[in-house]
Amino acid sequence: MNNFQYYNPVRIVFGEGQIKTLSELVPEKARVLITYGGGSAQRTGTLDEVKNALKANGEREIFEFGGIEPNPEFNTLLNAADKVQELNIDFILAVGGGSVIDGSKFISLVSGLVDENGRISRDKAWETLLQYGSNVTDSVVDLGTVLTIPATGSEMNSGGVINNTERKAKLPFGNPLVYPKFSILDPAKTLTLPERQVVNGVADAFVHVMEQYLTYPVNAKVQDAFSESLLKILIDEGNTIINEPNNMDSRKNIMWTATMALNGLIGVGVPQDWTAHMIGHEITSLYKIDHARTLTIVLPSLMRELKNSKKEKLLQYAHNVWNIDSQENDDLVIDKAISLTEAFFQKLGLPIKLSDVDLNETAIDLIITQLEMHGMVKLGEHKGNDLDVSRRILQRAL
Ligand code: NZQ
Ligand code: ZN
Repeated sequence: MNNFQYYNPVRIVFGEGQIKTLSELVPEKARVLITYGGGSAQRTGTLDEVKNALKANGEREIFEFGGIEPNPEFNTLLNAADKVQELNIDFILAVGGGSVIDGSKFISLVSGLVDENGRISRDKAWETLLQYGSNVTDSVVDLGTVLTIPATGSEMNSGGVINNTERKAKLPFGNPLVYPKFSILDPAKTLTLPERQVVNGVADAFVHVMEQYLTYPVNAKVQDAFSESLLKILIDEGNTIINEPNNMDSRKNIMWTATMALNGLIGVGVPQDWTAHMIGHEITSLYKIDHARTLTIVLPSLMRELKNSKKEKLLQYAHNVWNIDSQENDDLVIDKAISLTEAFFQKLGLPIKLSDVDLNETAIDLIITQLEMHGMVKLGEHKGNDLDVSRRILQRAL
């Protein structure tokens, strides 16, 4: 196991009916900007529940900014950051999924980058994203979240991904300043999700675990065993939830598993390989394919292409997650594990090939050009996944 420091300051408040605790969690005199997405928070009543909890005590001033898109748009977020300045906001409360939470982290991060006209400087904000958010070192506006879709882990990490349609780019950032102060995880809030979003969430969490696990062994027993457990839970609960969408036990387990999949815990002290995510972000940015669906397309082909360099972990995955008899020939064992992974995704109705989302060979050149433009030319645990490797992965996925 490699050396590491682990720090995670996010207070998790888990359980049904816990939105009421906002009255204790948000400072009593705060000027609060509630951020939300395209309308689900209003339709489902969650927004009203949040506002009522904030009004239950204290002297909070409450403002709203809605319309943050799935794959949150840079320009929309800059408009929200202008509002933070104009209204002198000192607390942002994100109500939604990964897109609203990531977007709110970015609003918080850039809200001090004011130009001579008192507006947020678009250039400085773009530069911040290009520098992975690392150039902001001042304090930022505090942030809390009410999670409505289990998937990304954004509620308990300090990262985000922002889309810029004009520039054809979807780029990640991370900065410890934007760890949420708290996140409320009410599994009952997920009951209104369309099935598509439920299965997307299961798949996204699954691939988050895989990208921190499927590299090479460093004898990190805690991280490996935690990861294998999370994968097995996602397989079990994924199969349960498509047949029993109202199963609250399953909703609870999926929600906490997705948070645990990307709160940093299983990734400490181990090599990581985020190739599927980096290729996936380009596919989303170019073709508007849901984040999770890009991952279920790329991951199986990536496992096949990188079979040799990931051999030991693939065998461990086959044995410990899929219970495949390790006495058989190694190649067969690995092929079986990859096929079972694909079958799991397909059972959830997720695509596993580019053709499943109507993309063909012509898309590959564009995706590769975008990867090059964004400097994604040395991906993987050995930094060995250059553009040729990415191309071969995509060709296997046709
Ligand atoms: O916009 P509204 O109307 O709210 O509808 C949303 C959206 O259309 C809807 N929804 C959310 N909660 C709902 C609901 N509908 C009914 N009932 C509810 N309770 O679901 C749709 C998808 O929401 P979104 O937030 O986009 O989904 P998700 O949580 O999967 O987030 C995806 C984004 O997170 C990024 C992705 O790249 C993508 O931009 N990621 C963030 C990560 C992180 N911060 O660590 C890591 C991930 O790998 C990922 O890249
Ligand atoms: Zn993801």
